[in-house]
Amino acid sequence: MTNMKKYTLLIIVLFYGGFIALGQNSKILSSVKNVETKVDSVLALMTLEEKVGQLIQYNGSWDLTGPASELDNKQKEENIKKGLVGSMLNVLSVKATKEAQKLLMENSRMKIPMMFGYDVIHGYKTIFPVPLGETASWDLEAMENSARIAAIESVADGINWTFSPMIDISRDARWGRIMEGSGEDPYLTSMVAVAKVKGYQGNDLSGDLTIAATAKHFAGYGMAEAGRDYNTVNLGDNELHNTVLPPFKAAADAGVATFMNSFNEIDGIPSTGNKHLQRDILKGDWNWDGFVVSDWGSIPEMISHGVAKDKKQAAEIAIKAGSDMDMEGGAYEASLQELVLEGSVDEKLIDDAVKRVLRVKFKLGLFDDPYKYSNPEVAANISYEDHKKAARDVARKSIVLLKNENNLLPLKPEVKSIAVIGPLANDKDSPIGNWRAQGEANSAVSVLEGIKTAAGKDVKVNYALGTTLGIGERSFLMPLEINTTDRSGFKEALEIAKKSELVIMVLGEDAFQTGEGRSQSKIGLAGLQQELLKEIYKVNKNIILVLINGRPLEISWSSENIPTIVEAWQLGSESGNAIADVLFGKYNPSGKLPVSFPRTVGQEPLYYNQKNTGRPSSDLHVTYSHYTDVGKDALFPFGFGLSYTQFEYGEIDLSASEMNADGNIEVSIPVTNTTRPVKELKGFQLLDLNPGESRIVKFVIDEKMLQFYTSNKIWESEAGEFEVFVGGNSRDVKSAAFNLIKN
Ligand code: NOJ
Repeated sequence: MTNMKKYTLLIIVLFYGGFIALGQNSKILSSVKNVETKVDSVLALMTLEEKVGQLIQYNGSWDLTGPASELDNKQKEENIKKGLVGSMLNVLSVKATKEAQKLLMENSRMKIPMMFGYDVIHGYKTIFPVPLGETASWDLEAMENSARIAAIESVADGINWTFSPMIDISRDARWGRIMEGSGEDPYLTSMVAVAKVKGYQGNDLSGDLTIAATAKHFAGYGMAEAGRDYNTVNLGDNELHNTVLPPFKAAADAGVATFMNSFNEIDGIPSTGNKHLQRDILKGDWNWDGFVVSDWGSIPEMISHGVAKDKKQAAEIAIKAGSDMDMEGGAYEASLQELVLEGSVDEKLIDDAVKRVLRVKFKLGLFDDPYKYSNPEVAANISYEDHKKAARDVARKSIVLLKNENNLLPLKPEVKSIAVIGPLANDKDSPIGNWRAQGEANSAVSVLEGIKTAAGKDVKVNYALGTTLGIGERSFLMPLEINTTDRSGFKEALEIAKKSELVIMVLGEDAFQTGEGRSQSKIGLAGLQQELLKEIYKVNKNIILVLINGRPLEISWSSENIPTIVEAWQLGSESGNAIADVLFGKYNPSGKLPVSFPRTVGQEPLYYNQKNTGRPSSDLHVTYSHYTDVGKDALFPFGFGLSYTQFEYGEIDLSASEMNADGNIEVSIPVTNTTRPVKELKGFQLLDLNPGESRIVKFVIDEKMLQFYTSNKIWESEAGEFEVFVGGNSRDVKSAAFNLIKN
């Protein structure tokens, strides 16, 4: 029996100033056999206390170059001396990491070097676009390159382990951490995951300029209910396997050294205590041999989750579930030895976790030279100028042109006066983003600076702040909306808008409006920004709105009224120059949204690859269940982005209308309610086309691409009709159909 089902595949064609081929997953780590022998021989010499020590991570909150003052830190220092610490985080500088390593190497019995980890999320000193923005470039080579540069700058400061990439699928713009991932699509995020792992780890983790990467947060963290950070996740098997896990599988296959688990629970089980995820899937099915670090304190947080009664029980649940290292949670330190000695935890589990940690340390080359990442010569040889060039390159590739009516862009040479207005116009800090590592505050090129440099002497550039962002002090503390009444800056802004030929409004979000713990119920322009925009529009309609933000914003009014909109994210150190490159036509915008922009926040969570309901319409655009008061689709859909050039898509030509599955698997078609998304991304290519030039773009579809996690609890394809969409985004597409035949 052939149960004909209908599926749709999406292929997106992108255009930009260069061509790259999709990267191949590569096994990065080599000579495993040799490493295994070494790992076993070290393990055989260790006491239980020393083994547990390898599973402990301390935060380096005190000055390691002098004696610890607080009692707690004194104790930590003593434990380092005894070699009872596996790694530290937030210890920065070659001096500090060397001192800490020396404490351990010169005093401990086993002399097992520590790893030094840090949140190097989108650059170390040279800051690149926030990950969501960078993903809009769809340029895997550029993304790999920015990770490589971040690794070099990290090594120059003593770091050998980054807690990146974050590859949580996120479909809710309210979730503050949406800026740290690659958006709503599992395929695109998987490709980015591989590029990032390759960038950080290179082909050989033992290289002098490569660092260990972390695939995080395993798993489901981005699916928090109502977009509230850390919130409960309700996720069925279908969604888990088809949406959440693919990027993690891709990272594991690419040889990522470590995983970090997540703060959330799924169906009542905190990830930290989730044996099925960590042991059955990650270490079992996927046969991944790295180690899992907990998120900060997530082991004892199982007490608040109501799953463990105390730290000891939390430690027991976590180690049994496959959490190998305790990040600053104190649970393993307090109880793991005792749990083994009393027989509650099998020492074999400890051995397995320790072997995983040692394996990574061997691969990093730490046993050959514990100080290899504390080498001052690395910093001396860095060309920060070259890194800036790379930052500008990927920043401009990340910019998405959302609207360009009246062809205001690129700016014409005839334009002789420009008003640059808005709280973010001359802001040198917001583009650096929340996860700024060692990027200096106020170090970005502002939009105003970029424009002034690009405009030259003949163009009069007038600037006014207009209004503040209307939020509290810029700090790691929660920003609150405080200033929503001060209109004193409006007058000057209106004056310069009136006397200028066109206006560039720079609005959006402060660096700390997105990031961890930064969920918001409103995603419009905060404070008086919207009001300012409307007032300016009354006196000058030639407005180019430049948005600086970390999440999709609610910009329906702007999309109806403002002729030109440029999505410029938080683009990092070279932000203003990159934006000016696009505004002045030095770079033809090529970015495409990795996440849907809603018409209103009430549509969230919103994503293009939704499933059909039981009441689909024959019109593709109304297949989603929808609201009665707002369009059912996104304002700007996944994959959307304009260029200064127009592209036309010809008719699709399929080489055959039927396809036989390779192999001889007998498939019984599930008679269940398993449904497939309306469209799913299966491939993309970047093209560089000259005006008038046309080229045939080829994608090969094979049976593996048609597989998904079915109700049989396996990855398999189903016979039936498939519809192929090709286009420049997820909405405006050409289609053709073929049948997959299975006997
Ligand atoms: C908590 C965050 O969730 C995680 O992503 C980060 O790596 C750790 N803190 C360490 O800073």
